[in-house]
Amino acid sequence: MVTQPDMRVDLGKLVLKNPVLAASGTFGYGQEMADFCDPALLGGVVVKGLTLEPWPGNPPPRIVETSAGMLNSIGLENVGLDVFLKEKLPWLVERNVTVVANILGKTVDEYAALAQGLGKADGVAMIEINVSCPNVAAGGLAFGTSPEFTAQVVRVVVQAAEQPVMVKLTPMVSDITAVAEAAVQAGADIISLINTIPAMAVDLENRRPALKNVVGGLSGPAIKPVALRLVWEVTRAVDAPVIGGGGIMTAEDALEFLMVGARAVQVGTANFVDPRAALKILEGIEAYCKEKSIQDLSTWVGSLKID
Ligand SMILES: Cc1cc2nc3c(=O)[nH]c(=O)nc-3n(C[C@H](O)[C@H](O)[C@H](O)COP(=O)(O)O)c2cc1C
Repeated sequence: MVTQPDMRVDLGKLVLKNPVLAASGTFGYGQEMADFCDPALLGGVVVKGLTLEPWPGNPPPRIVETSAGMLNSIGLENVGLDVFLKEKLPWLVERNVTVVANILGKTVDEYAALAQGLGKADGVAMIEINVSCPNVAAGGLAFGTSPEFTAQVVRVVVQAAEQPVMVKLTPMVSDITAVAEAAVQAGADIISLINTIPAMAVDLENRRPALKNVVGGLSGPAIKPVALRLVWEVTRAVDAPVIGGGGIMTAEDALEFLMVGARAVQVGTANFVDPRAALKILEGIEAYCKEKSIQDLSTWVGSLKID
């Protein structure tokens, strides 16, 4: 029996204290959840996606429960770069939280400006690029659906940012390895995946879409098998560290992602079910390591056996 397993995660330019991060958009800016879950205890907190200007997001209803998941069309609601830097980041820094700033733009220039604003900010440990956003210069096709657009965004962010840069891939592609490879070649240090899957739900009685926006992003247990497959493919295709997620509700789910090859995980929808979910998952991983005499969690990463 191991007394205290080593849970640290080596991401190359950055070492996380443990492998559980809160996923963007599901943990606010950390402060909102602090009464339930001390964000400093997590491997990191990925804050809500930041845009240059504040944005109100989409009109309600914008969250609906589906079988084995949830559908959201929050849109880009966020406080904007300046308010984040002045009002949200200091609180996180004071509490020693490992902050990951998730950014999204409609043009390459917007991503570059966000990276310039955040790139030298003390207390931002890492930048996560959300490439699921429509590229207005390409008729609204999401950046992340094209290896070339993804590389364009990565290049400008890497150039402007002093921190490690992570790229969060969208599952909406036929070959995710091509996008991952392009991101790494363009200078991405870390790959994360998956973002939500576009989906819809119907309100039968009202003969209306359940979401005002009609289409939203599906998350939660329903997407876990899709996410596992994509994480497995990406970890085999690139040498860069991978952070996996999608439908992780329990420590066992997280351990599956790690076994498939992810070095750390992001917990999203589970935070809406239980604001202590991320911590419970972390504690569960630790307990599992002790039970199975895993001294160093990194030895578990990629330990999946395929006969
Ligand atoms: C309400 C909500 C808001 C989200 N906002 C963002 C966001 O701003 N940026 C981003 O990259 N991902 C965002 N996501 C995606 C999550 O970070 C995560 O990648 C996805 O939900 C899959 O993980 P899960 O099944 O554990 O929730 C959001 C998800 C939800 C449910």
